[in-house]
Amino acid sequence: MKIAVIGSTGQMGTDLMKVLQDEHDVIGFTHENLEVSDYDSCLKLKEYHPDVIVNTAAFHKTDQCEDELVRTFSVNAIGARNVTLISKEIGATTVFISTDYVFDGNKKEPYTEDDPTNPINSYGISKLAGELYTKQNPKHYIARVASLFGRAGASGKGGNFVETMITKAKNNEAINVVNDMWMSPTYTKDAAEIIKRILELELPFGIYHASNQGFCTWFQFSQEIFRMTNLTPTLRSIESVQIKTNAKRPMFSALRSTKLQKYGIAVRGWKEALRDYLILKGHIQAT
Ligand SMILES: NC(=O)c1ccc[n+]([C@@H]2O[C@H](COP(=O)([O-])OP(=O)(O)OC[C@H]3O[C@@H](n4cnc5c(N)ncnc54)[C@H](OP(=O)(O)O)[C@@H]3O)[C@@H](O)[C@H]2O)c1
Repeated sequence: MKIAVIGSTGQMGTDLMKVLQDEHDVIGFTHENLEVSDYDSCLKLKEYHPDVIVNTAAFHKTDQCEDELVRTFSVNAIGARNVTLISKEIGATTVFISTDYVFDGNKKEPYTEDDPTNPINSYGISKLAGELYTKQNPKHYIARVASLFGRAGASGKGGNFVETMITKAKNNEAINVVNDMWMSPTYTKDAAEIIKRILELELPFGIYHASNQGFCTWFQFSQEIFRMTNLTPTLRSIESVQIKTNAKRPMFSALRSTKLQKYGIAVRGWKEALRDYLILKGHIQAT
């Protein structure tokens, strides 16, 4: 397949490029070469005649999104619209990377692909709008991911949670982490592998949850990071009400896929994925 990846140097984009390049003809578009919110800029995608266009671009600083609505909707919603229009024009499949934040968190058990969406912050609303635009191309996949960690770190967020925890611990900083917010930590390499399999198996178009299996609180996630790396910082569990944030966040946004299981795509648990990530980054040795 000829695959174009937008946001190719981002956290998700880097692993998508790496995973897809093994067997496909892949071209990456960085933010420098392509601006998703500008339709004319997106026309560049046509020159390459891709069979698939994967859109990882986003403005996803959740708190900042509340104050920068125009930018949020320009990138996450109008950007998705532009990419979808062009995909449709050239008969390409659109893949939109979406988020667990399209849910409100009230279900209190993992969300599956069939669950109704109800975002509670502007970032989530803009990504849901991006999903709706993406659906305008009948040939679409919406891959929802969550709480990403990957080799490149999120360029839009300045790293990822795992690296932040390790850096703080090494600097002997006291660390406070919320223990009442649940999510599914997800390794971008695993999410990229899932997307690759979906494309190769030509699974039915639609929504897929592409997170690692299982879920935990952010505090439990940090405990596991420190257990695996043998770091022993002063780690304190706190409640989310103790932190003032601009955006509301779902208290429980774990994802589960019923579809991947059905189509025989195995997904490993987040702890196993975390171990692999820590080895890759040289934080621990392979045993
Ligand atoms: N990170 C998470 O925990 C998380 C959780 C759930 C869902 N997601 C979703 O997963 C996707 C990938 O996230 P990520 O962690 O890989 O983010 P990332 O590292 O910030 O990557 C996004 C990429 O898109 C590029 N980009 C940003 N705005 C753009 C624009 N207007 N036009 C073209 N390119 C643009 C960025 O380039 P520059 O950095 O140069 O601007 C970057 O290369 C996003 O769609 C996000 O909504 C992420």
